[in-house]
Amino acid sequence: MIKPNPFTPQSGWEPRFFGGREEELNFFEKVLSESIKGAANHMVILGEWGTGKTSLAKQLKKIAQSQGCPTAFCPLSNISSRSALKDTIHLIAQEMLLGLPKDAAVENADNLLKDLGQLQPQVKFTKFLLNLWGTIEDNTAVVFIDDVQNLDINAGVIDTLRSVLSRDEVIKNTNYLFVLLSTPRGWQDFIDKHNPVGRFFRKRIYLENLDQVETSEIIDKTLSEAEVDFNDDIKKAIYDNTEGHPYELQLLCSNLYDSQLQANITNDIFIKALKNTLRELGKDYFEALYRRASDREKEVLSILVEKNKPLSIADIRSVMITEKRKAGFPIANIKNFLYRLYEKEIIKRKDSGEFEIIDPMFAKYLEVFEFQKGV
Ligand SMILES: Nc1ncnc2c1ncn2[C@@H]1O[C@H](COP(=O)(O)OP(=O)(O)O)[C@@H](O)[C@H]1O
Ligand SMILES: [Mg+2]
Repeated sequence: MIKPNPFTPQSGWEPRFFGGREEELNFFEKVLSESIKGAANHMVILGEWGTGKTSLAKQLKKIAQSQGCPTAFCPLSNISSRSALKDTIHLIAQEMLLGLPKDAAVENADNLLKDLGQLQPQVKFTKFLLNLWGTIEDNTAVVFIDDVQNLDINAGVIDTLRSVLSRDEVIKNTNYLFVLLSTPRGWQDFIDKHNPVGRFFRKRIYLENLDQVETSEIIDKTLSEAEVDFNDDIKKAIYDNTEGHPYELQLLCSNLYDSQLQANITNDIFIKALKNTLRELGKDYFEALYRRASDREKEVLSILVEKNKPLSIADIRSVMITEKRKAGFPIANIKNFLYRLYEKEIIKRKDSGEFEIIDPMFAKYLEVFEFQKGV
């Protein structure tokens, strides 16, 4: 019987082999041990789409559990963005009730919430944390809140969390460790809106892509029980294309695995798997990302795709004038278009001030599917 594909190109799916992230795991262990000693430093973990925030959180959860700390995991779906403060606080409280152990004496744990009736969300959550703590005997309870970027910044959820967690009675009588996960841009929006939030969640992890050695190791270990393996050339090509982006890596490997079951991976087969990967990434994310750009912004973007290297504002302006020669294109606005593309997370800005497409797979996707150049 053919073994099932061991790769996991689904968001939130635990990879078969969790690679890299040693620094992050150690950092969390340190924060956790400080917490156990009584000094909780709430944390935030930032990472772009698909860089492995949820997967990392699940590893951290296991670490906490292995230290005897009760844990709760609260995912915030897109729906959260439309919810009022009181509903979101309620949701978080319910997830905490689900995950954290309750004293046998609390017959119906939900009563902890219901009894608080119509109090203001802030007061209600404070009382909830205090009451729930009375039922937990362990000395640190870890609460993960995933996809914080889905919250409406105006609803005030993060600020409520901050102000509740900094109340004296909560600090003195409880020992929760909150770990928030978000995209960097989403988090920045909270900080811009409400500065103390940034100072409060002081311990911060920023998830980068995996390096080449880690990427290789993940591929080998994931394939360890499979009938196929990828040779060094293929592994290098995988790294070159994905730059170690965890989700892209899993998806490309998954497609390669399926094709290798039929034949050895030739260049043609690699390109076909890559194209399928780009198509799927398109459906998952890239298409929606591209649609955020206006028509004018798309024209500016096409130059970055064509030139396939970082460009300054002046470079782009000169290509637009000398090569594109679009009648009526507002050259003077190129700077604005670039900043808007940057705000929409379609391009990034290097320290040198040059702009480039947010990631090479996205650039490739634009080239193949949106600007129709073929692979
Ligand atoms: N450290 C890792 N090692 C191997 N695969 C990983 C790792 N982190 C994430 N992945 C894989 O990458 C994909 C995206 O991970 P996910 O945790 O859902 O990212 P995010 O929550 O940041 O969007 C998943 O398919 C997951 O299996
Ligand atoms: Mg996630």
